[in-house]
Amino acid sequence: MAQGKGFGKTILFGEHFVVYGMPAVASAIGDYTLAEVEPSKKTEIIDNRPATEGYKETKREEMQREFGALFRFFGVKPEKNPLKITLSGNLFCTSGVGASAALAVSISRALNDMLGLGMDDEKINNAAYAAEEAGSGKPSGIDNTCSTYGGLLWFAKGLGGRPNTMKRLSIRKPVEIVLGNTGITQETKVVVDDVAAWGKESPDEFRQILDDYAETASKGKQAMQSFDMRKVGLLMDRNQELLRRVGVSCNEIENIIGIAKDNGAAGAKLTGTGRGGYVICLTPGEGLQGKVAKAIEAAGFGTLKTTIG
Ligand code: MEV
Repeated sequence: MAQGKGFGKTILFGEHFVVYGMPAVASAIGDYTLAEVEPSKKTEIIDNRPATEGYKETKREEMQREFGALFRFFGVKPEKNPLKITLSGNLFCTSGVGASAALAVSISRALNDMLGLGMDDEKINNAAYAAEEAGSGKPSGIDNTCSTYGGLLWFAKGLGGRPNTMKRLSIRKPVEIVLGNTGITQETKVVVDDVAAWGKESPDEFRQILDDYAETASKGKQAMQSFDMRKVGLLMDRNQELLRRVGVSCNEIENIIGIAKDNGAAGAKLTGTGRGGYVICLTPGEGLQGKVAKAIEAAGFGTLKTTIG
Protein backbone atom coordinates (compact mmCIF):
# COMPACT_ATOMS: atom_id res chain seq x y z
CA MET A 1 0.00 0.00 0.00
CA ALA A 2 1.32 3.46 -0.90
CA GLN A 3 1.77 5.90 1.99
CA GLY A 4 2.67 9.52 2.63
CA LYS A 5 3.02 11.85 5.62
CA GLY A 6 2.37 15.58 5.93
CA PHE A 7 3.37 17.51 9.06
CA GLY A 8 1.38 20.16 10.90
CA LYS A 9 2.78 23.66 11.36
CA THR A 10 2.68 26.64 13.64
CA ILE A 11 3.38 30.28 12.73
CA LEU A 12 5.51 32.26 15.21
CA PHE A 13 5.40 35.49 13.21
CA GLY A 14 3.41 36.54 10.19
CA GLU A 15 0.01 34.96 9.54
CA HIS A 16 -2.14 37.25 7.38
CA PHE A 17 0.74 39.72 6.85
CA VAL A 18 2.51 37.01 4.82
CA VAL A 19 -0.31 37.24 2.25
CA TYR A 20 0.95 40.80 1.51
CA GLY A 21 4.55 39.70 0.89
CA MET A 22 5.77 40.20 4.46
CA PRO A 23 8.25 37.57 5.70
CA ALA A 24 7.09 35.03 8.26
CA VAL A 25 8.72 32.64 10.73
CA ALA A 26 7.03 29.26 10.97
CA SER A 27 7.86 25.77 12.08
CA ALA A 28 6.65 22.31 11.24
CA ILE A 29 5.56 20.32 14.29
CA GLY A 30 6.12 16.61 14.82
CA ASP A 31 2.42 15.72 14.60
CA TYR A 32 1.41 14.50 11.16
CA THR A 33 -1.37 13.24 8.91
CA LEU A 34 -0.79 9.85 7.27
CA ALA A 35 -2.44 9.03 3.93
CA GLU A 36 -2.65 5.47 2.61
CA VAL A 37 -3.77 4.97 -0.98
CA GLU A 38 -4.61 1.71 -2.75
CA PRO A 39 -6.57 0.62 -5.84
CA SER A 40 -10.03 -0.57 -4.90
CA LYS A 41 -13.41 -1.59 -6.34
CA LYS A 42 -14.94 1.78 -5.51
CA THR A 43 -13.54 5.16 -4.59
CA GLU A 44 -13.84 5.88 -0.90
CA ILE A 45 -12.19 8.18 1.62
CA ILE A 46 -11.96 6.90 5.17
CA ASP A 47 -11.11 9.79 7.45
CA ASN A 48 -9.80 8.56 10.81
CA ARG A 49 -7.93 11.78 11.65
CA PRO A 50 -8.53 13.05 15.18
CA ALA A 51 -10.31 16.43 14.97
CA THR A 52 -12.13 19.15 16.87
CA GLU A 53 -15.89 18.61 16.88
CA GLY A 54 -17.40 20.04 13.69
CA TYR A 55 -14.03 20.43 11.93
CA LYS A 56 -14.61 17.76 9.29
CA GLU A 57 -18.16 18.97 8.52
CA THR A 58 -17.01 22.60 8.14
CA LYS A 59 -14.11 21.57 5.92
CA ARG A 60 -15.96 18.97 3.80
CA GLU A 61 -16.32 21.07 0.62
CA GLU A 62 -12.82 22.54 0.95
CA MET A 63 -11.46 19.00 1.26
CA GLN A 64 -13.37 17.82 -1.82
CA ARG A 65 -11.87 20.69 -3.83
CA GLU A 66 -8.41 19.69 -2.54
CA PHE A 67 -8.94 16.09 -3.65
CA GLY A 68 -10.15 17.22 -7.09
CA ALA A 69 -7.04 19.38 -7.57
CA LEU A 70 -4.72 16.57 -6.48
CA PHE A 71 -6.34 14.05 -8.81
CA ARG A 72 -5.92 16.55 -11.67
CA PHE A 73 -2.30 17.30 -10.72
CA PHE A 74 -1.39 13.60 -10.68
CA GLY A 75 -3.56 12.70 -13.70
CA VAL A 76 -5.54 10.24 -11.57
CA LYS A 77 -9.09 9.40 -12.70
CA PRO A 78 -10.83 7.72 -9.78
CA GLU A 79 -14.03 7.25 -11.82
CA LYS A 80 -12.03 4.89 -14.09
CA ASN A 81 -9.52 3.55 -11.56
CA PRO A 82 -11.15 3.69 -8.11
CA LEU A 83 -8.99 4.38 -5.07
CA LYS A 84 -9.39 3.75 -1.38
CA ILE A 85 -7.79 6.58 0.61
CA THR A 86 -7.40 6.17 4.36
CA LEU A 87 -6.41 9.15 6.48
CA SER A 88 -5.01 8.85 9.99
CA GLY A 89 -2.03 10.13 12.02
CA ASN A 90 -1.64 12.00 15.29
CA LEU A 91 -2.21 15.57 14.02
CA PHE A 92 -5.30 16.81 15.85
CA CYS A 93 -7.14 18.71 13.14
CA THR A 94 -8.47 22.14 13.91
CA SER A 95 -7.90 25.62 12.46
CA GLY A 96 -4.41 27.03 12.79
CA VAL A 97 -2.27 23.93 12.68
CA GLY A 98 -2.02 23.53 8.90
CA ALA A 99 -4.28 20.47 8.81
CA SER A 100 -5.42 21.03 5.21
CA ALA A 101 -1.80 21.44 4.04
CA ALA A 102 -0.78 18.31 5.98
CA LEU A 103 -3.62 16.49 4.20
CA ALA A 104 -2.49 17.76 0.78
CA VAL A 105 1.16 16.85 1.38
CA SER A 106 0.33 13.39 2.76
CA ILE A 107 -1.84 12.53 -0.24
CA SER A 108 0.67 13.99 -2.71
CA ARG A 109 3.40 11.82 -1.20
CA ALA A 110 1.14 8.75 -1.22
CA LEU A 111 0.09 9.25 -4.88
CA ASN A 112 3.74 9.87 -5.82
CA ASP A 113 4.59 6.58 -4.11
CA MET A 114 1.71 4.68 -5.75
CA LEU A 115 2.51 5.98 -9.23
CA GLY A 116 6.31 5.61 -8.79
CA LEU A 117 6.95 9.19 -9.95
CA GLY A 118 10.03 9.86 -7.81
CA MET A 119 9.00 13.48 -7.19
CA ASP A 120 11.32 15.65 -5.10
CA ASP A 121 10.12 17.94 -2.29
CA GLU A 122 9.77 20.92 -4.64
CA LYS A 123 7.27 19.03 -6.81
CA ILE A 124 5.40 17.65 -3.80
CA ASN A 125 5.17 21.22 -2.50
CA ASN A 126 3.79 22.41 -5.87
CA ALA A 127 1.17 19.64 -5.85
CA ALA A 128 0.16 20.51 -2.28
CA TYR A 129 -0.04 24.21 -3.17
CA ALA A 130 -2.37 23.42 -6.10
CA ALA A 131 -4.63 21.58 -3.64
CA GLU A 132 -4.48 24.42 -1.09
CA GLU A 133 -5.31 26.95 -3.80
CA ALA A 134 -8.35 24.94 -4.90
CA GLY A 135 -9.36 24.51 -1.27
CA SER A 136 -9.06 28.02 0.08
CA GLY A 137 -8.52 30.67 -2.59
CA LYS A 138 -5.11 32.37 -2.74
CA PRO A 139 -3.03 31.00 0.14
CA SER A 140 0.47 32.33 0.68
CA GLY A 141 1.96 28.84 0.50
CA ILE A 142 3.47 28.96 3.99
CA ASP A 143 1.45 25.99 5.30
CA ASN A 144 2.30 23.54 2.52
CA THR A 145 5.96 24.69 2.54
CA CYS A 146 6.28 23.94 6.29
CA SER A 147 4.43 20.66 5.90
CA THR A 148 6.66 19.53 3.02
CA TYR A 149 10.10 20.62 4.20
CA GLY A 150 9.76 20.46 8.00
CA GLY A 151 11.96 22.41 10.44
CA LEU A 152 11.99 26.12 11.27
CA LEU A 153 11.59 28.39 8.25
CA TRP A 154 11.79 32.03 7.21
CA PHE A 155 9.28 32.33 4.37
CA ALA A 156 8.15 35.13 2.05
CA LYS A 157 5.53 34.85 -0.65
CA GLY A 158 6.71 36.21 -4.00
CA LEU A 159 4.27 38.87 -5.19
CA GLY A 160 3.42 39.58 -8.85
CA GLY A 161 4.36 36.10 -10.07
CA ARG A 162 7.80 36.11 -8.43
CA PRO A 163 8.83 32.86 -6.71
CA ASN A 164 8.45 32.42 -2.96
CA THR A 165 11.61 32.54 -0.88
CA MET A 166 12.34 30.14 1.93
CA LYS A 167 15.35 29.85 4.23
CA ARG A 168 15.97 27.33 6.95
CA LEU A 169 16.63 28.85 10.37
CA SER A 170 18.79 26.95 12.79
CA ILE A 171 18.59 27.54 16.52
CA ARG A 172 20.73 26.19 19.34
CA LYS A 173 18.19 23.61 20.53
CA PRO A 174 14.47 22.91 20.12
CA VAL A 175 12.15 25.13 22.18
CA GLU A 176 9.05 23.90 23.99
CA ILE A 177 5.70 25.38 23.05
CA VAL A 178 2.09 24.77 24.03
CA LEU A 179 -0.66 25.06 21.45
CA GLY A 180 -3.96 25.92 23.15
CA ASN A 181 -7.06 24.92 21.20
CA THR A 182 -10.03 27.32 21.24
CA GLY A 183 -12.17 24.54 19.72
CA ILE A 184 -13.43 26.95 17.04
CA THR A 185 -13.03 26.06 13.36
CA GLN A 186 -12.67 28.87 10.84
CA GLU A 187 -12.54 29.03 7.05
CA THR A 188 -9.19 30.60 6.17
CA LYS A 189 -10.51 32.24 3.00
CA VAL A 190 -13.29 34.06 4.88
CA VAL A 191 -10.91 35.52 7.45
CA VAL A 192 -8.24 36.41 4.84
CA ASP A 193 -10.93 38.17 2.75
CA ASP A 194 -12.15 40.10 5.81
CA VAL A 195 -8.62 41.36 6.47
CA ALA A 196 -8.32 42.44 2.82
CA ALA A 197 -11.65 44.31 3.06
CA TRP A 198 -10.54 46.03 6.28
CA GLY A 199 -7.22 46.97 4.65
CA LYS A 200 -9.08 48.62 1.76
CA GLU A 201 -11.21 50.63 4.17
CA SER A 202 -8.26 51.72 6.33
CA PRO A 203 -5.27 51.81 3.93
CA ASP A 204 -3.10 54.16 6.00
CA GLU A 205 -3.53 52.21 9.22
CA PHE A 206 -2.99 48.95 7.36
CA ARG A 207 0.26 50.26 5.81
CA GLN A 208 1.45 51.32 9.27
CA ILE A 209 0.58 47.88 10.68
CA LEU A 210 2.49 46.15 7.87
CA ASP A 211 5.53 48.38 8.52
CA ASP A 212 5.38 47.67 12.27
CA TYR A 213 5.03 44.00 11.52
CA ALA A 214 8.06 43.98 9.18
CA GLU A 215 10.21 45.39 12.00
CA THR A 216 8.74 42.93 14.53
CA ALA A 217 9.41 39.93 12.28
CA SER A 218 12.97 40.97 11.51
CA LYS A 219 13.75 41.42 15.23
CA GLY A 220 11.93 38.15 15.97
CA LYS A 221 14.12 36.26 13.53
CA GLN A 222 17.28 37.76 15.06
CA ALA A 223 16.10 36.96 18.59
CA MET A 224 15.35 33.36 17.55
CA GLN A 225 18.81 32.98 16.06
CA SER A 226 20.53 34.42 19.14
CA PHE A 227 18.27 32.17 21.26
CA ASP A 228 16.87 35.08 23.29
CA MET A 229 13.48 33.52 24.08
CA ARG A 230 12.40 36.32 26.38
CA LYS A 231 12.75 38.75 23.50
CA VAL A 232 11.08 36.34 21.04
CA GLY A 233 8.12 36.17 23.45
CA LEU A 234 7.82 39.96 23.71
CA LEU A 235 7.88 40.25 19.92
CA MET A 236 5.21 37.56 19.61
CA ASP A 237 3.05 39.67 21.95
CA ARG A 238 3.68 42.65 19.69
CA ASN A 239 2.67 40.56 16.66
CA GLN A 240 -0.55 39.59 18.46
CA GLU A 241 -1.34 43.26 19.07
CA LEU A 242 -1.08 43.90 15.31
CA LEU A 243 -3.31 40.88 14.59
CA ARG A 244 -5.91 42.26 17.04
CA ARG A 245 -5.92 45.50 15.11
CA VAL A 246 -6.74 43.77 11.82
CA GLY A 247 -9.63 41.98 13.54
CA VAL A 248 -8.56 38.34 13.65
CA SER A 249 -8.52 37.70 17.40
CA CYS A 250 -11.52 36.63 19.51
CA ASN A 251 -12.45 36.19 23.19
CA GLU A 252 -11.34 32.55 23.38
CA ILE A 253 -7.92 33.42 21.92
CA GLU A 254 -7.52 36.28 24.39
CA ASN A 255 -8.60 34.03 27.25
CA ILE A 256 -5.92 31.42 26.43
CA ILE A 257 -3.28 34.15 25.95
CA GLY A 258 -4.16 35.61 29.38
CA ILE A 259 -3.84 32.21 31.09
CA ALA A 260 -0.54 31.48 29.34
CA LYS A 261 0.96 34.84 30.28
CA ASP A 262 -0.27 34.62 33.89
CA ASN A 263 1.48 31.26 34.15
CA GLY A 264 4.82 32.49 32.86
CA ALA A 265 4.73 31.99 29.07
CA ALA A 266 7.39 34.16 27.40
CA GLY A 267 4.88 35.17 24.73
CA ALA A 268 1.56 34.05 23.27
CA LYS A 269 -0.38 34.82 20.11
CA LEU A 270 -2.89 33.28 17.76
CA THR A 271 -1.34 31.04 15.12
CA GLY A 272 -2.73 30.56 11.60
CA THR A 273 -6.13 31.80 10.53
CA GLY A 274 -7.31 33.25 13.86
CA ARG A 275 -10.84 33.98 15.19
CA GLY A 276 -10.51 30.54 16.79
CA GLY A 277 -8.08 27.73 16.05
CA TYR A 278 -4.91 27.50 18.09
CA VAL A 279 -2.88 29.88 20.26
CA ILE A 280 0.90 29.38 20.31
CA CYS A 281 2.46 29.87 23.76
CA LEU A 282 6.25 30.07 23.97
CA THR A 283 7.26 28.05 27.03
CA PRO A 284 11.00 27.28 27.06
CA GLY A 285 11.75 24.30 29.34
CA GLU A 286 9.57 21.28 30.04
CA GLY A 287 8.61 22.58 33.50
CA LEU A 288 7.12 25.80 32.15
CA GLN A 289 5.52 23.95 29.24
CA GLY A 290 3.77 21.54 31.63
CA LYS A 291 2.62 24.36 33.93
CA VAL A 292 1.13 26.44 31.11
CA ALA A 293 -0.54 23.42 29.47
CA LYS A 294 -2.11 22.39 32.79
CA ALA A 295 -3.49 25.88 33.41
CA ILE A 296 -5.00 26.08 29.90
CA GLU A 297 -6.56 22.63 30.29
CA ALA A 298 -7.98 23.59 33.71
CA ALA A 299 -9.90 26.35 31.90
CA GLY A 300 -11.46 23.72 29.61
CA PHE A 301 -9.30 24.07 26.48
CA GLY A 302 -7.39 21.27 24.74
CA THR A 303 -3.62 21.53 24.39
CA LEU A 304 -0.85 20.10 22.28
CA LYS A 305 2.68 20.11 23.72
CA THR A 306 5.49 20.08 21.18
CA THR A 307 8.78 21.75 20.23
CA ILE A 308 9.86 24.03 17.40
CA GLY A 309 13.24 24.25 15.69
C1 MEV B 1 -2.93 30.29 7.51
O1 MEV B 1 -2.21 29.27 8.17
C2 MEV B 1 -2.06 31.50 7.33
C3 MEV B 1 -2.73 32.69 6.65
O2 MEV B 1 -1.72 33.72 6.61
C4 MEV B 1 -3.19 32.36 5.24
C5 MEV B 1 -2.05 32.15 4.27
O3 MEV B 1 -0.91 32.48 4.55
O4 MEV B 1 -2.36 31.62 3.19
C6 MEV B 1 -3.91 33.22 7.44
